[in-house]
Amino acid sequence: MPKANSNLLNLKKDYLFNEIEKKVLLKKKENKKILNLGIGDISLPLASSIIDAMKLAIDEMRDKKTLKGYGPSDGYTFLKQKILDNDYKNLDIDIDEIFISNGMKYSISNISDLFSQNSKVGIINPAYPVYVDSNIMGGRKNQIVEIPLIEKNNFQPIIPNETLDLIYLCSPNNPTGLAYTKKILKSWVDYAIKNRSLIIFDGAYEAFIRSENIVKSIYEIDGAKDVAIEMRSFSKNAGFTSLRCSYLIVPKNIKTHENVSINSLWKRYVDTKFGGISYPIQKAAEATYSQRAISEIKNTVDTYMKGAKFLYENLKNLNFECFGGQNSPYIWCKCPDNLSSMKFFDLLLEKNIVTVPGIGFGRHGEGFVRFSAFASFETINEAINKLKNI
Ligand SMILES: Cc1ncc(COP(=O)(O)O)c(C=O)c1O
Repeated sequence: MPKANSNLLNLKKDYLFNEIEKKVLLKKKENKKILNLGIGDISLPLASSIIDAMKLAIDEMRDKKTLKGYGPSDGYTFLKQKILDNDYKNLDIDIDEIFISNGMKYSISNISDLFSQNSKVGIINPAYPVYVDSNIMGGRKNQIVEIPLIEKNNFQPIIPNETLDLIYLCSPNNPTGLAYTKKILKSWVDYAIKNRSLIIFDGAYEAFIRSENIVKSIYEIDGAKDVAIEMRSFSKNAGFTSLRCSYLIVPKNIKTHENVSINSLWKRYVDTKFGGISYPIQKAAEATYSQRAISEIKNTVDTYMKGAKFLYENLKNLNFECFGGQNSPYIWCKCPDNLSSMKFFDLLLEKNIVTVPGIGFGRHGEGFVRFSAFASFETINEAINKLKNI
């Protein structure tokens, strides 16, 4: 038998999330109605304009004249052009810098393959677990430097004293629900320019930004085009969590230490490892930019954000100390009485309320749980009423 890739054996066993699932299943077996405020998945139907576009694209497959075979591994130009004209207008992005992907999870977990195993990697903590796991898989277990997102720093990432090669940032952040200030983001861009680092900027929750002073794209910061890759997804705004479609911007002028273009390295990588996204899904993604879809998507995101506001205000009224919810669908709630995040999770589960214990997102998530406003308004309301009795 072949030996296992030892890097994969270095991954932490998924004990915590398995344990949570087991506990929730046990609760369900008691025939209790579960109020799931833990989910990071969508709960509202997709816009009908998106479904219509997908159906039309599937119908094209019936006809020899419109039939599509293998598509470009980096995506069709019709979708890239829409992204450019709508999301990156005036930001000096070239169409060849856009790569269509089958969800950000793919791009986040594979992008680090482009870089040496010795790269020093700064990763925010708490964070989406894929940043850490993919770097462990890439043999960088001992190369990871935590960038704490803690209350003392208003959950903003503070520049470390050491030099990092790769930096993972995410704003608005999952799980803290808070976006970075422009000043903080600028300090990272300046740091990356000075230290010749590369920033991987996760903008999965960009559509939820409501505050005027929060930047939606890192490229709004001067110099970012020389040091940052930005990723965005159709998952959370347009409901593509099952359809799978996202994109990333890899500026052509960013080079590795050996002076190799990162854009051409990524192109080479996806040409070998990835078959592109299906035509109907890319047509569905293109449709998200139609006037009809824009207003349908706005309604959906507004509904989630109304839930987030309601959840945040009610948790505050109940004297919970909480953060986020203004520019993201997540509320980061401090565990009362110094309870551990797992203990508080258990306490809430006794009331049939499911959350995610902060420790699941990294050690700096201890002492918090994440509430999600992707749940229906009725579920949120019922959960609040139950919390009133805790
Ligand atoms: C911060 C963050 N980035 C990326 C993703 C992955 O998004 P996608 O559905 O495009 O793979 C998620 C999913 O929950 C996320 O929370």
